Amino acid sequence: MIKDRIRMASLHEKIMSPEAAASFIEDNMTVATSGFTPSGYPKAIPLAMAKRAEKEPFGITLITGASVGDELDGALTKTGVLKRRFPYQTNNASRDGINNGSVCYQDMHLSHVTQFIEYGFFGNIDVAIIEAIAITEEGNIIPTTSVGISPQAVKEADMVLIEINTTQSMALEGVHDIYMTEKPPFRKPIPIVGPGDRIGTPYIECDPKKIVGIVECDITDKVRPLGPIDEDSKKISAHIIEFLKEEVKAGRLPENLLPLQSGVGSVANAVLGGLVDSEFENLTCYTEVIQDSMFDLIDAGKVKVASGTSFTPSEEGLKRLNDNMEHYAKYCVLRPMEISNHPEVARRLGVIALNTAIEFDIYGHVNSTNIMGSRMMNGIGGSGDFTRNAYLSFFTTVSTAKNGDISSIVPFVSHVDHTEHDVEVFVTEQGLADVRGLCPRERARKIIENCAHPDFKEMLFDYLNRAEQGKYSHEPHLMDESHSWHHRFLTTGSMKVK
Ligand code: COA
Repeated sequence: MIKDRIRMASLHEKIMSPEAAASFIEDNMTVATSGFTPSGYPKAIPLAMAKRAEKEPFGITLITGASVGDELDGALTKTGVLKRRFPYQTNNASRDGINNGSVCYQDMHLSHVTQFIEYGFFGNIDVAIIEAIAITEEGNIIPTTSVGISPQAVKEADMVLIEINTTQSMALEGVHDIYMTEKPPFRKPIPIVGPGDRIGTPYIECDPKKIVGIVECDITDKVRPLGPIDEDSKKISAHIIEFLKEEVKAGRLPENLLPLQSGVGSVANAVLGGLVDSEFENLTCYTEVIQDSMFDLIDAGKVKVASGTSFTPSEEGLKRLNDNMEHYAKYCVLRPMEISNHPEVARRLGVIALNTAIEFDIYGHVNSTNIMGSRMMNGIGGSGDFTRNAYLSFFTTVSTAKNGDISSIVPFVSHVDHTEHDVEVFVTEQGLADVRGLCPRERARKIIENCAHPDFKEMLFDYLNRAEQGKYSHEPHLMDESHSWHHRFLTTGSMKVK
């Protein structure tokens, strides 16, 4: 079975057990793997690495496209193998490791990662482990449900290990479009002028001499559940759709909008899902992750083409995708994350970026990563790549968290991922604040009025009014008090004054 998928016959002799493949990885090595938002990551070799570490402790630096499943992040954290981690994760064990200090983590803009690999900023890449559906006659690799950093990992690594995952659909062949940029000063413009443009090859080029082991794997992606599309998400989605309609009326957007980018998580999925019942037709997407609601949009005949770097379905979405891969493959292009998240392309296409915040402040700074300023949730992911370079950037969040004890709109965010200079539109279930062309004080009034929960509006206005009594009027703050909102929650369990 696996031999059918390895079309270069001379590579059949490289087929080995996961244990034998894991033995190539030594203490202190830097390992770069496929995988993006628990899709298309290697599983059998990491599990064998974890097993080996129980008897023979060793540590590695792990670089992936984005988050990977428990067989990789979880198993390696629990066995102490994971020492350093770049650039994004969503795994409970690795999140705990990061927050208790046992795993060193650099949270990075995803569009920067492949440059770091190619320029050697991470040091030498010792091993690449890539999940594939097949290997071509020439020894090139056909990836599975994500591309992420795989092309650069294969190019730069000293050794390549491949996991042929027999549960991944062969109908994925042809979905990928692999294009790599040159290093400056030889870099050329990326020739993408429409979201569906194909500019590369359907496989990752690989020198077969670098392939030291090939392993068969039948473990499926451990994808993440998506929360139900609740009333708050529906309201957020409705505010955005109403706003987009007005923009079309005003002649600032074409009738089929501009290519949409939608972030990760339940709210982002729900926001895109709202478009299914909207009047918009012939939509296009130039995004990072293709979540369940994209399949709804495709099935509703609303989306012409969706470009991303990974399929990021829920468990039900994964079944739906696998059962209908030939159908969805016709609409989707999976690119290396350097290209899916490239600022040049996002700016050229005029992407509409829709991302989710943990909290934002009255002036428009956004925290997407660190709860209460220091507890890492996931990471910035690609949100910054799109937010700063989009035609229009939206941030959404439900106006309160933790049963209403936390206001997601605060005087000053406890950590800054996106600045007031990057975002044009803020949305909660309460309403939408379009802050284009407004000075900070005007922005603050609009954000509080339109987005804050009624329980916190008066407190936020009180803060702003008192801050405005100060000496400087551009972006007034009560510096002593601005962080006390978070301190109040940490000490009393609620941001409300009791
Ligand atoms: N203060 C404290 N905690 C908060 C909070 C706030 N203002 N807002 C949310 N939270 C908590 C929730 O209670 C929840 O906690 P739990 O895990 O203990 O239940 C957690 O944060 C996640 O919130 P939820 O509403 O379930 O989030 P989500 O699934 O919609 O994801 C992000 C939201 C911000 C975590 C997610 O979008 C993300 O990681 N974004 C950054 C990366 C990104 O945008 N990538 C896409 C680029 S293409």
